[in-house]
Amino acid sequence: MSPPSILGNGKDCSGSAAEEIYADINWDELGFNIIPTDYMYVMKCAKGDKFSQGSLLPYGNIEISPSAGILNYGQGIFEGLKALRTKDGRILLFRPEENAQRMKIGADRLCMPSPSIDQFLNAVKQIVLANKRWVPPPGKGSLYIRPLLMGTGALLGVAPAPEYTFLVYCSPVGSYHKGALNLKVEDKLYRAISGTGGTGGIKSVTNYAPVYTAMSKAKANGFSDVLFLDAATGKHIEEATACNVFVVKGNVISTPATDGTILPGITRKSIIDIAIDLGHQVVERAVSVEEMLDAEEMFCTGTAMVVNSVASVTYKDTRVNYTTGPETLSAKLRKTLVGIQTGSLEDKKSWTVRVD
Ligand code: COI
Repeated sequence: MSPPSILGNGKDCSGSAAEEIYADINWDELGFNIIPTDYMYVMKCAKGDKFSQGSLLPYGNIEISPSAGILNYGQGIFEGLKALRTKDGRILLFRPEENAQRMKIGADRLCMPSPSIDQFLNAVKQIVLANKRWVPPPGKGSLYIRPLLMGTGALLGVAPAPEYTFLVYCSPVGSYHKGALNLKVEDKLYRAISGTGGTGGIKSVTNYAPVYTAMSKAKANGFSDVLFLDAATGKHIEEATACNVFVVKGNVISTPATDGTILPGITRKSIIDIAIDLGHQVVERAVSVEEMLDAEEMFCTGTAMVVNSVASVTYKDTRVNYTTGPETLSAKLRKTLVGIQTGSLEDKKSWTVRVD
């Protein structure tokens, strides 16, 4: 699993000096945009088979049949996880086996073979090592790792594709959103079918484009993001476009239960554990719009988002402001989570995995 000695654009990365090499980009200006790195990982398997052997390839375009299952019928899922550099030079992944397990669940739902947990972890580690110079310096951001699983075999009728590709690429990233969020509640379009029968609870690629109409309109009106309601009643909050939500009143933190509609976020799960350890009561249940409007604090969580305070929510003609700033619970939770992820706080739960 050693990284290639020569990286994609010809820079020598062999030997111990390689440990010190950073890619030549402005690390102070990272946003959440794709920055092409050196390598991607690709592994293929036929329908009915198991994934066996993958390889690192130079990062670049892939060739795909026009009649591939992913292009025609959206047979695909993705994951997102991060590698962070610690002050003493280690590189840590955060709970990568959770992503591997979630990919398996999504693959089953969409009738795809999935890499084993070990294959997933091995691919992620290889991609980090091969693209080590793209892991931002401590405090400047993270390497966002994007595993994809997709039906790449050709077909015309509606059916599971005859071939599958597991592909992992990565990009250095900074913040997903800068500053506290101003959310607009969408009360006409829905993100996912309510209940257990839909795909809201997996990272299906088809869950994302349906939010674009609402998101683009909200952004054009000055909002940061959209908050979706449950499709069955329109009375309960679910998720923002790409993150889970929490509301805080007194010592109680409430978040929509993962009932099949809500994505079981790994950051969500970690924040629940951290909040309980810090002495808060956390309740996973249906959270009504009224309760949200009555809350003292609100925040969002996600791999890309990390933990971000909500400054305001606008529901129809009502705008409610929430407490933000360094004294908030969300700031405290974020600090603890990031401290564990970057190795500056003790990782008592063995959540981090060292890569280098
Ligand atoms: C993540 O937080 O990894 C996500 O899935 C968000 C992504 C859609 C930008």
